[in-house]
Amino acid sequence: MSNGTPELLSVRNLVVAYETSGHVKSRLTAVQDVSLDIAPAGIFALVGESGSGKTSLARAILQLIPSASGQVIFCGKSLPEMNKTQLREARRDIQAIFQDPLSSLSPRRTILQTLTEPLDHFRIGTGKERIDIAAGALETVGLDNSMMQRFPHELSGGQRQRAALARALVSKPKLIVADEPVSSLDASIQARVVELILNLRDKQGIAFLFVSHDLSVVRQLADTVAVMYLGRLVETAPARELFSNPAHPYTRSLLRAVPIADPLHPAPVVLDGEPPSALTPPTGCVFHMRCPDRIERCSSVEPGQVNISGKEGRQENHRVRCHLWNS
Ligand SMILES: Nc1ncnc2c1ncn2[C@@H]1O[C@H](COP(=O)(O)OP(=O)(O)OP(=O)(O)O)[C@@H](O)[C@H]1O
Ligand code: SF4
Ligand SMILES: [Mg+2]
Repeated sequence: MSNGTPELLSVRNLVVAYETSGHVKSRLTAVQDVSLDIAPAGIFALVGESGSGKTSLARAILQLIPSASGQVIFCGKSLPEMNKTQLREARRDIQAIFQDPLSSLSPRRTILQTLTEPLDHFRIGTGKERIDIAAGALETVGLDNSMMQRFPHELSGGQRQRAALARALVSKPKLIVADEPVSSLDASIQARVVELILNLRDKQGIAFLFVSHDLSVVRQLADTVAVMYLGRLVETAPARELFSNPAHPYTRSLLRAVPIADPLHPAPVVLDGEPPSALTPPTGCVFHMRCPDRIERCSSVEPGQVNISGKEGRQENHRVRCHLWNS
């Protein structure tokens, strides 16, 4: 979707659905027709309220859950079409960190064992070189070498998240998918992790898919922002433009709720009503029940995604799903 630059990751028309259990089985579509591109060394932020589908999209990209349809192309190759061996090899280049760092750190392994495990797995370096790589990764994330012999429970929350990031770094990935990596950290530690991510992008050229519900963190980090609502990307734009000149009524509501002047103390998102259930999505535009700008066809016709570059002075690569922009 960008102009001529080869993308690192391209997702096209991705759909993720869960079969829900219970006595009546039904299908919940968590991700609906999502397309996005991440450039090498780009920081692409995915924002949206709880339940909007951010984690489902991130996990489907990582091939941790299957997609119902659509494409995930990484470094020119289709991830869903890879066999287990090919996928294992691809994981050298596409790593992940999660909100709970303990999910990437085994409680029974020291930090050194955790950091050298991917190197053993990918047969990178000799035993001594693996220890040096682990030490280098710890230094990069600002942790002392003395942490190597510790177990995860002996680290603070911020140290654990940095150790999880160090683990993701040892195989020299091209992309790190980070799902709410700073959400459970307090503000000063959040700021250090944000700074670290920017450094990794600048110095090592690592791209990030950064999932967050916190717009003030995203504003400090992202080049591109996508706003998700009930499984759809309703607006995708260069970050500066999205924050200064949002086009979708939902994005505008989200931004009005954040006191950008005080990014360390973001206000909770304030919008009338709850998002509808993904099990029973409304007809038409899925935002129509809460939309202050809805017009007649909004309740019956679902808007497609349109590129609004050039409209009302918008830059390239600004896409929105809204009837107001369809004419
Ligand atoms: N394993 C599952 N089985 C059934 N439904 C699921 C499953 N995981 C998520 N869902 C549903 O899919 C939708 C999207 O959930 P998801 O966890 O992707 O949202 P999210 O944006 O990451 O939310 P949060 O901000 O709370 O992390 C929700 O309606 C959720 O209830
Ligand atoms: S399509 Fe209609 S209801 Fe949906 S965001 Fe646009 S104006 Fe609002
Ligand atoms: Mg989530």
